[in-house]
Amino acid sequence: MLIVYRKEKVTGLINQAILSKKSIGLVPTMGSLHKGHLSLIEKANKNNDTVWVSIFINPTQFNSPKDFKKYPKNLEKDIDLIESISDKINVFIPNEKEMYDGMPKLKIYDFKSLDIELEGKYRKNHFNGVATIVSKLLNLFKPNNIYFGEKDYQQTLIIRELVRIEKINVNIIICPTVREKDGLALSSRNNLLSDSEREKSSIIFVSLNYLKKNFNSLKLESIKKSIIKSIQKNKNFKVEYLEIADSTTLQIQKKINSKKSYRAFICVNINDVRLIDNLLLN
Ligand code: PAJ
Repeated sequence: MLIVYRKEKVTGLINQAILSKKSIGLVPTMGSLHKGHLSLIEKANKNNDTVWVSIFINPTQFNSPKDFKKYPKNLEKDIDLIESISDKINVFIPNEKEMYDGMPKLKIYDFKSLDIELEGKYRKNHFNGVATIVSKLLNLFKPNNIYFGEKDYQQTLIIRELVRIEKINVNIIICPTVREKDGLALSSRNNLLSDSEREKSSIIFVSLNYLKKNFNSLKLESIKKSIIKSIQKNKNFKVEYLEIADSTTLQIQKKINSKKSYRAFICVNINDVRLIDNLLLN
């Protein structure tokens, strides 16, 4: 397994791969890997000649320094997990200076309706930070295929728009959300919960399913209110948002017109740990 810290080395290896007509798959991550990340890496490994996983906790996508500082890190375990899939996978672990050619700098994009609501509303500039780093990674690795999880659905739409704006030729592959047995979406942040908070957080997925079952028959606002109330009965659980949005434009819906496709989006803050999830409704 190759672990690379320098961009220059990546460029050399990528040029070789392109010359020998090898397909390149890239899985961008921030590390602290779990089975959700591994499902993306496994898929990339099946469908590409050369696979790269990047591990970089990107400072420009964190709007809270506290959140950035406490983001979990587990590099040794990450490398073992990647190696357990295949020892032919390459790992890129840059530091900030290497990745940003000096001080991290945010690029501002116009994502129209896509970053106004949901995470875009509650984490200012988060998606500009994500796009800044993914654009750098796309230019460095020139992958044929890049892999993202549906768990961060808004992020997947932002990446599609980024690729359109920057006219980058790449297939974006979206992989289904991997969940715990009780439905909680796997997330590196789950490790920051206490045992009791972790157990109670299954209510997030239960709530999304309840909404899916009932969103057509009941008044949206009242059903949302009752879900929020039942989640917030748990100590330290605060619903940041619970919204139904158009699956393509992400515009928030107050009423449902069944011809369109909708998704429910939720963010629950548990003792300063933000958990997000989403579910296709129709
Ligand atoms: P990170 O949170 O590490 O996630 C890396 C990738 O794994 C993302 O595409 C995310 O959607 C996917 N993922 C996370 N949890 C998942 C789950 N339970 N099931 C399926 N896929 C899951 O997302 C980021 O990092 C960053 O924003 C990044 C794109 C790397 C840019 O910095």
